[in-house]
Amino acid sequence: MNNIKTPQTGARIVILTGAGISQESGLETFRDPDGIWAKVRIEDVATPEAFARDPERVHAFYNMRRKRAATLDLKPNAAHMALAALEQKWPGEVLVVTQNVDSFHERAGTTNLIHMHGRHAEARCNDCAHVVEWSGDMSLADVCQACGRAGGMRPNVVWFGETPREMDQIQSALLDCDHFISIGTSGNVYPAAGFVGLMRKLGCGHTVELNLEPSQGASLFAEAHYGPATEIVPRYVAALLEAV
Ligand code: APR
Repeated sequence: MNNIKTPQTGARIVILTGAGISQESGLETFRDPDGIWAKVRIEDVATPEAFARDPERVHAFYNMRRKRAATLDLKPNAAHMALAALEQKWPGEVLVVTQNVDSFHERAGTTNLIHMHGRHAEARCNDCAHVVEWSGDMSLADVCQACGRAGGMRPNVVWFGETPREMDQIQSALLDCDHFISIGTSGNVYPAAGFVGLMRKLGCGHTVELNLEPSQGASLFAEAHYGPATEIVPRYVAALLEAV
């Protein structure tokens, strides 16, 4: 891997990840030709309006995804592991902000982690906002353990039209960061797609894209490396750690 600009020791690193980092673990991405949004319409399964209109359909979609991840016994891959090792070994703060609702980052050992689009292994009550871990199917019959009401339990994921989680914390981490790395995301969905532009506008750090192919925002990054995540992420992380 050539032309890597390594951050200074102690630099604060923020890493944004998307579906591409989990693709080689066996999960489909959203916008690749065989991706999820080529088979299902966003407005049928991933909006608050869809849940209000046809909650059973929305539950069926997320039950299928949750079941698939469990039955196939999918595992974090070398890219997730490399990011966990970076957090452990880098002499400075490393924050991973993921758009992914899977649990591969935490299973790989990453601890400083924000799930900005929520997690599909959790349920949230629409009536009282109580959140619980969830492993099996979810249905309208499920009763919230906190408020006792039925019908309002939903996947704890951020749907289109909803506000991503922990945006204040993410924004201040971006403002403070010296090195921003975007991995496996197509750059189609805001606010995450706007992070690189924000970093550039504020002139506050080096920006790197690691992806299979140039994303929508590719021209905004100062540095880019293209290839499968399980190859380029471990190589890139090794280069950063060599400089320590
Ligand atoms: N290695 C690296 N990158 C990959 C790989 C791989 N093995 N496979 C695919 N990619 C890249 C694709 O080229 C694409 O640029 O990952 C990106 C995946 O893009 P999307 O499918 O759009 O996923 P993402 O950017 O995470 O989507 C953002 O959209 O639907 C919503 O909420 C959903 O969080 C998701 C958000």
